[in-house]
Amino acid sequence: MTYLLGIDIGTSGTKALLIDADRGGEVVASSTKTYPLYTPKPLWAEQEPEDWWQATIAAIREILDESGVDPNRIQGLGLSGQMHGSVFLDADNNVLRPAILWCDQRTQAECDWIMETVGREKTVELISNPVLTGFTAGKIIWLRNNEPELYTQVKKVLLPKDYVRFKLTGEYATEVSDASGTALFNVKKRDWAYEMLDAIGIPRDWMPRVYESPEITGRITEEAASLTGLKPGTPVVGGGGDQAAGAVGNGVVESGIISSTVGTSGVVFAFADKPVVDPGLRVHTFCHAVPGKWHVMGVMLSAGGSLRWYRDTFASAETCVARALGKDPYEVIIDEAATVPPGSEGLIFLPYLSGERTPYADPHARGVFFGITLRSNRGHFVRSVLEGVAYGLRDSFAILQEMNIPITQVRASGGGARSELWRQIQADVTGYDHVTINIDEGPALGVALLAGVGTGIYSSVEEACRSVIKVVATTKTNQTNKLIYDKYYQVYRSLYQSLKDEFPKLSEIVS
Ligand code: XUL
Repeated sequence: MTYLLGIDIGTSGTKALLIDADRGGEVVASSTKTYPLYTPKPLWAEQEPEDWWQATIAAIREILDESGVDPNRIQGLGLSGQMHGSVFLDADNNVLRPAILWCDQRTQAECDWIMETVGREKTVELISNPVLTGFTAGKIIWLRNNEPELYTQVKKVLLPKDYVRFKLTGEYATEVSDASGTALFNVKKRDWAYEMLDAIGIPRDWMPRVYESPEITGRITEEAASLTGLKPGTPVVGGGGDQAAGAVGNGVVESGIISSTVGTSGVVFAFADKPVVDPGLRVHTFCHAVPGKWHVMGVMLSAGGSLRWYRDTFASAETCVARALGKDPYEVIIDEAATVPPGSEGLIFLPYLSGERTPYADPHARGVFFGITLRSNRGHFVRSVLEGVAYGLRDSFAILQEMNIPITQVRASGGGARSELWRQIQADVTGYDHVTINIDEGPALGVALLAGVGTGIYSSVEEACRSVIKVVATTKTNQTNKLIYDKYYQVYRSLYQSLKDEFPKLSEIVS
């Protein structure tokens, strides 16, 4: 038996996944440990890196205990995680403040300053992307502007999964896919954008060493081994940002295959042979976890997050019913949506609960329910949330089409792919059949496979995916529903245009 371990440092929790490489990647054990997200001010989102580390220790311990697998048989470990977050370390490797996360929107002024200082054209030439509020660069400048006493103590800046790597291996390291989301990385050259760092005054040596995703970046230390139960010396490969890693876990490693993932965020992800850039800069161009390849992706900030917000805010009755029936609350909530016709009888939801990135990089955008009538009941509201997220995904598909990126197969994944109704809505709204695969373990599976590539079990990422991932089902587009959604989608599109000047006014009043 040869086992591979994948760890994903997510926004809601850390998941450890153990697979058996000798049995076609069969899942042996999985454990998820959750932690809080802090929003000390409107638009802010933070987490404690120590929580990620404790959750990693607990999740690894649990899978080892439950599976009884001999740690000597774990060939390697891969790390994935929420992208863009900033962990600031001092000279003694102490964490200086809570990490500022991918969905935090406080840095618009800093992003504007960076783009002005470097110049828009030069920025795109250097990093193939605009500098967006979610990305890491603005967070570093924010620290300089707002917490200068901490800024002077910074010695290293790490991404979330790379902080956990540091705790596991003692190495400061990252890999190309996650580094792409810092806005400090030359995506074309697959190395730090030194000119960018110099122009905005960030010391080059704050950045960790960068590897390709399947490369070994370090080994489990004696201390980490005693805490986790892993064998000292176990190799840890680069892994990937959660989207690139999830794409590997979905087999999105060749042209034409697209994934559409509804987790907290909603991401439409396309493989690319070259670092192609959207002239409107609405989608991101980042390095893929496949060496020498890239990807293009549209990112919605609140996809599954919108449904979670709906559940937590409005569905306490459904949650109680679900508990009594031993069901998942989402199942009961989505059953209500099934009682309402496609289009929710004109109730439209804009899913901009934490601002938005694709197609509008707008930190001030807000969620909206439009078209409420006396007939609107809970079913209408929840269905409109499911549909609003699907309209947002359709925006990303439309941009990929404009860029002439081939779309031959769409793979649905994440929590939003588990519901048959939501999958159907996504297939109907976007007009693409959505397939699902045999192992829905996303980023944790992707990085376990990368660990297999880095330690010689598979000859390439493509081979790893071929040997483990199979398409098992198809949700076909219902053409009648598609026609209905086409009409509502036009209204959805024009709503943002009508409201975009009002959103910043709200932010100003609130602040
Ligand atoms: C990708 C992004 C999110 C986070 C959290 O650019 O911001 O997908 O990685 O999942």
